[in-house]
Amino acid sequence: MLVLGIESSCDETAAAVVEDGRRILSDVVATQIPFHAKYQGVVPEIASRKHTEWIWGVVEKALSDAGVKAAELDGIAVTARPGLVGSLLVGLSFAKGMAYSLGKPYIGVNHILAHLYAPQLEAPVDYPFIGLLVSGGHSIISRVADFDEIEVLGTTIDDAAGEAFDKVSKYYGFGYPGGAVIDRLAASGDDHAFHFPKPSLHKGEHRYDVSYSGLKTAAIHQLDQYRKPGAEATPENIAASFQRAAVDILLDRLYRAIEDTGLRTVVAGGGVAANSYLRRELGARAEEKGLTVRFPPLSLCGDNGAMVAGLGCRFLERGDRSGFDLNASARVPLFRRIGR
Ligand code: KG4
Ligand code: ZN
Repeated sequence: MLVLGIESSCDETAAAVVEDGRRILSDVVATQIPFHAKYQGVVPEIASRKHTEWIWGVVEKALSDAGVKAAELDGIAVTARPGLVGSLLVGLSFAKGMAYSLGKPYIGVNHILAHLYAPQLEAPVDYPFIGLLVSGGHSIISRVADFDEIEVLGTTIDDAAGEAFDKVSKYYGFGYPGGAVIDRLAASGDDHAFHFPKPSLHKGEHRYDVSYSGLKTAAIHQLDQYRKPGAEATPENIAASFQRAAVDILLDRLYRAIEDTGLRTVVAGGGVAANSYLRRELGARAEEKGLTVRFPPLSLCGDNGAMVAGLGCRFLERGDRSGFDLNASARVPLFRRIGR
């Protein structure tokens, strides 16, 4: 089954052709980062305008890279939620137009499920596993039971992990997007120069939740309070200490979820899954405890069309279809369990 996947939920205009939900025939991602950089954050109006300008070219390239004609497609999958609504609407409307004119089935999918499907492309992982989805918009620890079924164990109660990196970086003028810049600076810093506080959300339903507002405030406004005697407030030291604290917050909850569920496989995804401290620490822990950890390649960690095509294929092959009345939605209800 040949499926075209279209992704436009945030600031990447992306399309890919995937065969049988696994084999990536093409994967085109046009990033808008340079257009948002001067605002140090994604500007929704600019994002939807760029999607409108680029979507046709990106889809055309995905088809031509794959050597596939639109008429040969078996279906079209598109991210319909959650995300920036103006951005989502561009991809969704384009997918509907294509599906209608070609007389092909189409399906609107959930972006979070698509991220958690990403590791299934190329090298399948058995369900169930623990999913760690950490990006600029999400911090989700979940039990992934199947392609269409996840149980959200924990999420952030305020900022997403990547958002915290971006905000700290913005405050100090390190660069945009902040995650990669902080990661790079941290490489030559002392990650014990500052001992930032961790949130204490350990009760009841917050057992696996994370929070970044305390760390963000500490890293921005209370540096001196957490400084190790003699340590200097260099960008490298701030970056390294912040990065260690930010990732440790996630790992703490992730390890708890692994222990409680007894699951032995962890799959990470989202832009923050590129973080070198996270990869190193989780990798070492996995070795020590005999866990299997999968970090999809970086091209599949960030937003891409291949994960949408792959997931869409699973729905389409079992006969699921979306109607032309499907709307984009910015949010999914604050869920503990989500389906398509
Ligand atoms: O998944 P993604 O490309 O887009 C969405 O947010 O959906 O993730 C982008 C986020 C940004 O917040 C960025 O700062 C963060 O991922 N990020 C990183 C790293 N690379 C990107 N955070 C920490 N360490 C990195 N190496
Ligand atoms: Zn994403």
